Amino acid sequence: MKNVIPVILAAMTLAAGCRQASEPAPVKTPLMGWSSWNAYMVNISDEIICHEADLLVEKGLRDKGFAQVNIDDGFFGPRTEDGVMTCNPQRFPDGMKPVADYIHSLGMKAGIYSDAGDNTCGSMYNKDTLGVGAGLYMHDAQDADLYFNQWDFDFIKIDYCGGRHAGLDEQDRYMEIRRVIDSVSTKPVSINICRWAYPGTWVSQAGDSWRTTGDIRPNWNSVKKIVGLNLYLSAFARNGHYNDMDMLALGYEDNQSGLGGESAFVRTTDYLTPDEEDAHFGLWCIMDSPLLLGCRLEGMPEHTLELVTNEELIALNQDPLGLQAHVVQHVGDTYVLVKDLLKRSGPRRGVAFYNPADLPAKVSVSSAELGYIGKVKVRDLLAHMDCGTADCISYEVPAHGVKMLSVEGRRTEQTLYEAEWAYAPKYTAIAQGPAFVPDESASGRTVVAGLGGEGNSLVWEDVWSDKGGSYALELVTIPADVETSGVAVSVNGTAVTPSVDGRYMAELGKGLNTVSISCVKPMPSVDCLKLEKLK
Ligand code: GLA
Repeated sequence: MKNVIPVILAAMTLAAGCRQASEPAPVKTPLMGWSSWNAYMVNISDEIICHEADLLVEKGLRDKGFAQVNIDDGFFGPRTEDGVMTCNPQRFPDGMKPVADYIHSLGMKAGIYSDAGDNTCGSMYNKDTLGVGAGLYMHDAQDADLYFNQWDFDFIKIDYCGGRHAGLDEQDRYMEIRRVIDSVSTKPVSINICRWAYPGTWVSQAGDSWRTTGDIRPNWNSVKKIVGLNLYLSAFARNGHYNDMDMLALGYEDNQSGLGGESAFVRTTDYLTPDEEDAHFGLWCIMDSPLLLGCRLEGMPEHTLELVTNEELIALNQDPLGLQAHVVQHVGDTYVLVKDLLKRSGPRRGVAFYNPADLPAKVSVSSAELGYIGKVKVRDLLAHMDCGTADCISYEVPAHGVKMLSVEGRRTEQTLYEAEWAYAPKYTAIAQGPAFVPDESASGRTVVAGLGGEGNSLVWEDVWSDKGGSYALELVTIPADVETSGVAVSVNGTAVTPSVDGRYMAELGKGLNTVSISCVKPMPSVDCLKLEKLK
């Protein structure tokens, strides 16, 4: 049962001062590098970190973009009487600065770790007793000065075990930490917020990236779960700030012996298969997650090294538009994800066919569904192969697998915008609010529910018009029998006044436009927004 509210947008002058449609500037792309946690847990040392940094260079990974080395939990020593943090004297006998210096000398950036609260996760779960009181809480300025000005680190991951332990409010705490770091550090610092679920849209002001899930494990269920939790978060990756799907769980076979130290990933029989590794890496790339390798690089299997150095996949992740792909088709268990490359509504797009199911599945998508007129040129990014032209692309996708493609052709203007591609300012995964709810009657089999009330709107920031002009918009809600009279629509910041018959009049500018819907009272679930150009 669908309730279609026709909204006719006709010529209308935009009020002075409202946002004009424009092409956004290139943004900072997701981080790429290596992080110590998955392979070593708290059992790190200067020798281990420098060795892994060397391996990034030797294996050609740095030159493909993996140019950041992150020290995770486990480096902490006791605080001095004045509260100054020290480092673990056994693990880092010469201090932390020489390690950051060494990483810098290799042409890479150096990352460090802390907690928003008092104690570290390692002090709670890994018997790292020196992590008690090692968090930033009560030491923000002192630690920021030490980590970024004195030790010279460029990045910090800020966990939340101590924040939870101390009963702190995450938003207040992380915003305060950002404020202090920005005022104390003499250089820009990239911040990763590790709160294990999308905490709310405030997070993009506090962090450059943020974890959206619990810790990854090197098995298919874990990867599938993380992908599922990020499929509808594309609008929250914006302006060079990204959803972090966690470190890559690639390269785990029998390579976990070697340089001492216990691994977070104890030997299991269900490490990822090559197809699963393709899906894991391909999806992290197209969904614009940070790409942080987590295995011991020494023993990284050849097929994994080949996969993570695939420049065509990396280019999806490092594309200057900084977009996270969104779901354009969800048939059976399968998904098709897509994103623009290089230019908004331009000729090239990245496409992933994703089959999370336990059996192979055929996936077919028309060029029209991907936003093109006529045939598109198709390229297989995993096989590095041109696959000719087609107006319907069909592949059998292996169980737990992907087909990673780029397509090129003549674009059409998008006529349907799913609700689940839109930005919801009040969305959070840790409290009540808007939610992505499966609904078989919806166009993408998902609706956004729980909208309405103060500031609880839904915003499409990427409504595209090639030339600008008058458009008819339909807002499709589900179900039909819910009161919709209070729904207000605005275009590029200007309220669009309903006419007597309930229709709305406005004009879209050339390029990107913002369409926002809100309601003072609870709003029916939103399926999608449809556009038709009138002239
Ligand atoms: C949490 C984080 C992990 C890792 C550990 C360190 O579990 O989610 O990524 O940093 O803490 O203790």
